[in-house]
Amino acid sequence: MRHLLSIEDLDRAGIERILDRAKTFTEVSEREIKKVPALRGRRVLNLFYEASTRTRSSFELAAKSLSADVINFVSSGSSVEKGESLKDTVQTLSAYRPDLIVIRSPHVGAAALVAGWTTAGVVNAGDGKHEHPTQALLDVYTLRERLGSLEGLDIWIVGDVLHSRVARSNIHAFTKMGAKVTVCGPPTLIPRGMEALCDVAYNLDDLAQADVVYALRMQNERMNDSFVPSLREYAAQYQINGRRLTARQVLMHPGPVNRGVELAAEVIDSPQAVIGQQVEAGVVVRMAVLYELLAGRSAPQPALSTAPV
Ligand code: CP
Repeated sequence: MRHLLSIEDLDRAGIERILDRAKTFTEVSEREIKKVPALRGRRVLNLFYEASTRTRSSFELAAKSLSADVINFVSSGSSVEKGESLKDTVQTLSAYRPDLIVIRSPHVGAAALVAGWTTAGVVNAGDGKHEHPTQALLDVYTLRERLGSLEGLDIWIVGDVLHSRVARSNIHAFTKMGAKVTVCGPPTLIPRGMEALCDVAYNLDDLAQADVVYALRMQNERMNDSFVPSLREYAAQYQINGRRLTARQVLMHPGPVNRGVELAAEVIDSPQAVIGQQVEAGVVVRMAVLYELLAGRSAPQPALSTAPV
C-alpha cells in the first residue's frame, strides 16, 4: 500500500494487520520504550491546512517514536497567506524529499490531489467532510481493546452526520469489522442515501439497543449549507446524557467535544466513556500506519555520498 486516502483502501485483513501492529507498539511502550529505530532516515511532512489538536500531535509523536524526521507545516504563518497554492506548496516542500506527506485540509479530495503531485506516500488526516481514515482505525482499535471484537456489535453514530468525515470513515470501518451501524440525528443533518450504507434513525427512542454510542460534534464551522436546529434544540433532542446512556453501553467521541451540546458533562467523565483511550490509541495506530506505508520502501538516495548516521 502506497497511500492511505480512504478507509476503502483497506479490507478487513488490512485493518486487522495495522491494528495488530499497533498492539505490538502498545506492548513496547508499556515496557517504557518510547522510541524504536524502525523509520530512521525517513522524513514525514505534516501538512495541516485546518485546525487540529489530536491528529497533528499524534502523527508527530508517532513519527518521532519510530525515529523518523518530521517537518511540521501549518498553513497559518506560511506563504499560503501570501497566496501560494496547495500544489505549489506541495511541490516546494517536496524539494526536501519527504517519504510521506500527512495532509489535513478543509477541502474534499485534497489528499487525493496531493498524491498526484508527489512521489511521497500520502495519508489523509481529514479532507473536509469526506474521510478521516486514521480516526476510524483508532476507533476500531479502541473498541477491540474494550470489547474484544466488533463482530455483531450494534453501534449508533449520533449527531451531525452530514458534515462528519469521521462518520463516513467509521460507517465503512465498523461495517467491515462485522458491526451493525445506525446513524441518528436531525433529518437536515443526515445525508441523502445513507440507507444504502446503514440503518437511519431520527430520534433516540431505540438508543437502549446500542452496544456503543458514538457521538459526533456539531460542526458549527461547516453549517452554512443546511437548515439546522439551534444548539439548544439539538441538545434537548439528541444530547447523550446520564438519562439516555445506560451502564452497559460504551461511549465514544472523536473530539473536540462541545460540552453541554452533544455530550453532558456527567457522561464525558463516566466509566462508559473511552474518549481518553481513543486519544491514546491515536499514537500507536498512526505509528502502525506510518510503518505500513514506509517500512520496506527504499529510502531516497542522498545527493552526496555520506557515512550513515
Ligand atoms: N479527532 C480529531 O481529528 O481531532 P483533531 O481535530 O483535534 O485532530
